[in-house]
Amino acid sequence: MSILIKGGTIVTATDQYAGDVLVEGEKITVIGSALAIQADRVIDAKGKYVLPGGIDVHTHMDMPFGGTTSADDFQTGTIAAAHGGTTTIVDFAIQYKGQRLHDAWETWMKKADGKAAIDYGFHMIMTDLTDQVEEEMDALVRQGVTSFKLFMAYPGVFMMDDASIFRALLRTGKNGGTICMHAENGGVIDVLVKKALAEGKTAPKYHALTRPVRAEAEATHRAIALAEIADVPIYIVHLSAAEALEMVTEARDRGLPAYAETCPQYLFLSYDNYEEPGFEGSKYVMSPPLRMKDTQDRLWRGLAFNDLQAISTDHCPFCMKEKHLGDGDFSKIPNGAPGVETRMSLVYDGGVRTGKISMNRFVELTSTSPAKIFGLFPKKGTIAPGSDADIVVFDPNGKQTLSAKTLHMNVDYNPYEGREVTGTTHTVLSRGKLVIDDGKFVGKAGAGSFIKRSARA
Ligand code: URP
Ligand code: ZN
Ligand code: ZN
Repeated sequence: MSILIKGGTIVTATDQYAGDVLVEGEKITVIGSALAIQADRVIDAKGKYVLPGGIDVHTHMDMPFGGTTSADDFQTGTIAAAHGGTTTIVDFAIQYKGQRLHDAWETWMKKADGKAAIDYGFHMIMTDLTDQVEEEMDALVRQGVTSFKLFMAYPGVFMMDDASIFRALLRTGKNGGTICMHAENGGVIDVLVKKALAEGKTAPKYHALTRPVRAEAEATHRAIALAEIADVPIYIVHLSAAEALEMVTEARDRGLPAYAETCPQYLFLSYDNYEEPGFEGSKYVMSPPLRMKDTQDRLWRGLAFNDLQAISTDHCPFCMKEKHLGDGDFSKIPNGAPGVETRMSLVYDGGVRTGKISMNRFVELTSTSPAKIFGLFPKKGTIAPGSDADIVVFDPNGKQTLSAKTLHMNVDYNPYEGREVTGTTHTVLSRGKLVIDDGKFVGKAGAGSFIKRSARA
C-alpha cells in the first residue's frame, strides 16, 4: 500500500517547508516537491501541517491504582490517542513487591496485545530493588524496556528509599537505561495528609494543600543530586512546580544531563480548579497537584528555553464514581486525570498560536525530543526517508470544543470541558496505515506493535 500526502507544510523539530511525502508500506520513502508519483491513495494536505506523529511517553492504561483501575484500557486509550494525533505511547508496567520485572512486563504486554491501535513501549515501575532485580534491569534494557520509573512519593505503595534509588541509578550507568523520577517528598506529604485529616480537612482541595511546591522541589533536587553522584542522566516526570523547575535549570546550567517533562494540565489548569463547588475539585486530583496560576508562565518559559524537554500527559483517567471513593477523605480519591487525546490541540492552541513556542518547538516537545530521550529516534519522532510513517495531517484552523461527550477517552468528565481549541488532528497514519481519516477512526484494535527502544549510547 502506498500513500502520497500532497501539498502540505512539513514541519520537523528543525525545518518547515512545503512538500509531498510518499509512504510505501510502513515507511516514509520519498520527500520532495510536486512529486509526480502514482500512489494507492492521495491525501490532500493543502493548508495543513504534516507532522511526525505525537509521542506521549507518560500514560497509564488499565492501571490498578487507589483501589480501582484507570478507565482507559489499551484499546480505548490508544484509539483516543490516535484521534488526538498521538501515534506512540510509552506506558508503565508495575513491579509489585517481591515480583520479577519480567513477570510485570509480561502482564502489561498481555494488557496491550490485541488491543493497542498504535505502537507502544513500556517503562518499568520498580518498587523492590533486590540483587536479582538489578540484574534483570540489564536484561530488560537489552529487550527494549530501557527506562525505569521510581517514586519518591506514596510511602508503603511505590516509594523507594534513597539507597535503592542510588543503586538503580548506578546500574543505569552500566546498562544504558534511564531513570524516570516521580519527585515528591512522600514522607513529608504523608505527615501533612494525616494532620489535615485529623483537623477535619477532608475536601479535594486538601490534596493540593498537603503537597507543597517545596516537597516537589526538594525531591527534584535530591533526585538530581543522586544522579550527579552516580554520574548518570535523570528524567523528572510530570514536573508541576516552578520551584522544581528551578532545580532542573540550575543543574542544566552546570552541564548536568537532567531532563524533565511537564504536562498540559500544569500549563492550562491551576489550583483554582480545586476550589470548584462541591466535589468537582476531585476531577483534578493528581500528583503532583495543580499549582498556582502564575506557575504556568514559568513552565512555558522552561519549555521555550529547553529547561523542559517534553510535554507528556500522565493520562490516568478515573470516572466520577471512582473519584467518589474519596468522599469525606481526599486521600482516597484516585490520583489522575484524562489527557492523551487533548495534548496536541491544547499545546498547539495555547502554545503555538499564542507565540509562546514555535511550530518547530511544538514538534520537538511533543514528538522528537521524547523520541530521542527514550530511544525511539529516528525510527519515530521525525519526517524523514526511512522513518516509520507515523504522520499527522494537522489542521491549524480546525476548531473543536473539548467535551467528554465528543472526545473518545473512556471517562465521564473532561478537565477542559467547554474549552474551544483551534488546531485539530485531521488524518493520522500509524506505520503507513490510516488510523484517523478526516477525523474518523479507521484503524484496528491490535494493529499497534510493541516497540523495542534503544538504550543510551
Ligand atoms: O496522579 C497521578 N500522577 N497518577 C498517575 C500515577 C503517577 O504518579 O504518575
Ligand atoms: Zn508519578
Ligand atoms: Zn504517571
